[in-house]
Amino acid sequence: MILVTTTGKVGSEAARLLAKRSVPVRVLAHHPSKAAALAEAGVDVVEGDLDVPESIDVAMQGVSSVVLVSPAIPVQELNVIESALPADGSGVAGARHVVKITSKASPESPIARRRGQAQIENRLIASGLAYTLLRNNAYMQNFLMLAPAIASSGSFASPTGDGRIGMIDTRDVAAVAAEIAASPGPHAGKTYWPTGPERLSYADAARVLSNVLGRPARSFEQFVADYAAAFS
Ligand SMILES: NC(=O)c1ccc[n+]([C@@H]2O[C@H](COP(=O)([O-])OP(=O)(O)OC[C@H]3O[C@@H](n4cnc5c(N)ncnc54)[C@H](OP(=O)(O)O)[C@@H]3O)[C@@H](O)[C@H]2O)c1
Repeated sequence: MILVTTTGKVGSEAARLLAKRSVPVRVLAHHPSKAAALAEAGVDVVEGDLDVPESIDVAMQGVSSVVLVSPAIPVQELNVIESALPADGSGVAGARHVVKITSKASPESPIARRRGQAQIENRLIASGLAYTLLRNNAYMQNFLMLAPAIASSGSFASPTGDGRIGMIDTRDVAAVAAEIAASPGPHAGKTYWPTGPERLSYADAARVLSNVLGRPARSFEQFVADYAAAFS
């Protein structure tokens, strides 16, 4: 049995792909009503809360591999790692493999998210569990958050200048995670850096959106401080 720890973009697609391959798969669902389609597809949906270790222990029963994906609040993912460890205190780990969805992780980073990811990664590596780290590049689906601005003004702001990013589709991240969780052996102890097929600036992305939408979309420059304030 493979446990996927959330029903968000990556988690729901990974679970769907595994169920399609008839691999036994379970999701821990914060809100099971959001996982009705997964249940219909044959996924075992178990209600749980990553802040409640007992609920993770219930979902962990009979599990051999875990796709660890969440909003990456360290205490929540550390709860999953503790739950995946052997309960007998033998310290003999290795029965379970954890595929950790992560990003650019660094303990020295000024960005809290990156420090948090490093904290989780380091605990996983030290735990003795088998693991694979997927340090994904930025998700293409982040553009969906800009959809209201594009719809109302035909434009969106970005602080990236001419910087180009190999954005990746979360469905590709999910496919990689599902494959590794199903056949983890060759991937144990490895770190991968999944990216999309080409590096695009936000101006490039605006051109793509203009073509697809059939009307102009443009990006405009935003100061980094204003961007940070919008997301704080
Ligand atoms: N965005 C990017 O560009 C990017 C790039 C690289 C890596 N990443 C990494 O990708 C991961 C996020 O993956 P994602 O985009 O698939 O996530 P997502 O779509 O934002 O979904 C988050 C999920 O977490 C669930 N959740 C929240 N609190 C919970 C709790 N207390 N207990 C159980 N479930 C809970 C939510 O359920 P409800 O909605 O029902 O509450 C939701 O299903 C993070 O590690 C992030 O750092 C992101």
